[in-house]
Amino acid sequence: KAVRVAVPASTANLGPGFDTLGMALGLYSWIEMKEAEQTRIILLGDQLYGIPTDKTNLIYKMAQAVFRKANVSMPELEITMYSDIPLTRGLGSSASALIGALAAANALTGHALPDEELLNMATSFEKHPDNVGASLYGGIVVATWDGQQANCLRITPPTELQALVIIPDFQLSTTKAREVLPAQLSMADAIYNISRSSLLVAALFSGKLHLIREAMQDRLHQPYRATLVPGMEQILEQATDHGALGIALSGAGPTMIAFVDRHSAQKDQLEGYLIDTMKAQGITASTLWLEPV
Ligand code: HSE
Repeated sequence: KAVRVAVPASTANLGPGFDTLGMALGLYSWIEMKEAEQTRIILLGDQLYGIPTDKTNLIYKMAQAVFRKANVSMPELEITMYSDIPLTRGLGSSASALIGALAAANALTGHALPDEELLNMATSFEKHPDNVGASLYGGIVVATWDGQQANCLRITPPTELQALVIIPDFQLSTTKAREVLPAQLSMADAIYNISRSSLLVAALFSGKLHLIREAMQDRLHQPYRATLVPGMEQILEQATDHGALGIALSGAGPTMIAFVDRHSAQKDQLEGYLIDTMKAQGITASTLWLEPV
């Protein structure tokens, strides 16, 4: 038996929805799993260089957890992985790999576990459900996590919505980007975010794209993370003057994601603005147009 899964990248938070909102993006990692005489892990491409290829490999361990939970004895596995998702840039590469491992192993068990269980397993590992929820269900997701149980609802992205990401050529670990966050927040900032996050969900659900600009404002994490990404503060402030409907740090960064109306005449202008602004900070960055999937 052999299975192959393609799992999308994701952007988390969408500005105000810290650890809650996510969206799947049309950039993928692939995992193939098949029963074999002996366990073997094959990582294709330069990107995955240095990741363990023995039984300490995370993909392998996740597969093991699925077989255990499903009460099916674990066969020896040949696992092959390839990813187009840049690592440690805020595009959910680890969440995609986790979901790929869980989904492929679950398929080998004959789909013994429901998706909800896979989501709980992935979230227990990641500690926040936004990226894994988007990679598992696709679309836009609204997700909660109480430490045991995730709840996740999928919204179909508005058809006019397209994303432009700007990916700086340096890595930023989620751990580091969480360490700069304060432990306490004011009631005013909490209200500020809950209102924007709620408005954003309603705007995306109803296709009211003109509300996105205000709805993507955030006071919970981006102001603190701005110190980690040169140029970010300026870009978050100005990108909507250059054709973005709204813009946010993608997950824990350093990538930023702009939402754009696909029929906009300002697409080239926005792309140029983002590249030039990063260049002025001495940072090389590449842009990529991505589809919500
Ligand atoms: N919600 C998480 C964060 C996403 O912003 O830290 C990290 O990928």
